[in-house]
Amino acid sequence: MRRRGAAGAGRSMEYSPESSENLAMKPRLLITAGSAREGSYNKALARFAAGRARAAGAEVTELDLGALGLPLYDAAIEAAAMPAGALELRRLFASHQGFIVAAPEYNAFPTPLLINALDWASRPKAEGEHPAGLVAMAGTAAGMLSASPGALGGLRSQIFLRSFLSVSLGMLVVPETATVPLAHQAFDEAGGLKDARQVEAVERVLRSVMRSAAVLA
Ligand SMILES: Cc1cc2nc3c(=O)[nH]c(=O)nc-3n(C[C@H](O)[C@H](O)[C@H](O)COP(=O)(O)O)c2cc1C
Repeated sequence: MRRRGAAGAGRSMEYSPESSENLAMKPRLLITAGSAREGSYNKALARFAAGRARAAGAEVTELDLGALGLPLYDAAIEAAAMPAGALELRRLFASHQGFIVAAPEYNAFPTPLLINALDWASRPKAEGEHPAGLVAMAGTAAGMLSASPGALGGLRSQIFLRSFLSVSLGMLVVPETATVPLAHQAFDEAGGLKDARQVEAVERVLRSVMRSAAVLA
C-alpha cells in the first residue's frame, strides 16, 4: 500500500468540476515553497495557499524544505547513510494525496533547493511498510504556484517543473497554475494576496488538486 489513511477514500463520491465543497473525503495536501529564504515571497504564497486549502476543507501539512537539512545530492553521502530528511520527505509523500509547491525561478528554472529535495526523495528504497520514494511520489496530485518580483511571476520555470514532477516523478500535475508577478507588492500585511484575480487563480489550482487527490486516493 503506497499512501493511506484517507477516510472513506473512493470513487463513489460525487463532485462538480467547479467545486470542492462536496468532496466526500478530506484530501491531505503537502504544501511547500521552493525557497528557504527568510522573507521569501514563495513561502508567503505557500502560507496563503495553505490557509485557503484548509478553508476549502483540506487537511494541510506545511513543509519548510530548508528545515529538512538535505545536503546537495551526492552518491557517497547516500552510500554512507540516507539522510533523515530524504526519509522524512518519502514519508510525507506517502501520507499525502496532494502536493502544492510555490516555487521561484532561478534563470527561468526551478530552484536547486526544490530539485535537490525531490531528487533525494526519489532515492529511498522500499523497506517494510514504507514504499520506495518514487512510488510514494507517483500518482500524487500536484499543483504549481510561483511568485517573483519580476513581471512574469516565475511562469517560465513552471514549464520545466511540470515536466520534472510529471514525467520524471510520476505526479499528476493539474493544468491550472497561478503566478504572482511583482511579488514585492502583492501581499497585504495579513499575508493575503491583494489582487482578487490572483486569489481566484490560486484557489482554482487548490480546487483542482483537491478534486484530483480525492479521486485518486
Ligand atoms: C540565481 C538567481 C536567478 C534568478 N532568476 C530569476 C528569473 O529567471 N526570473 C525571475 O523572475 N526572477 C529571478 N530571480 C529573482 C527571484 O525571483 C527573487 O530572488 C525571488 O525573491 C526569489 O523567490 P523568494 O522570494 O521566494 O525567495 C533570480 C534570483 C536568483 C538568486
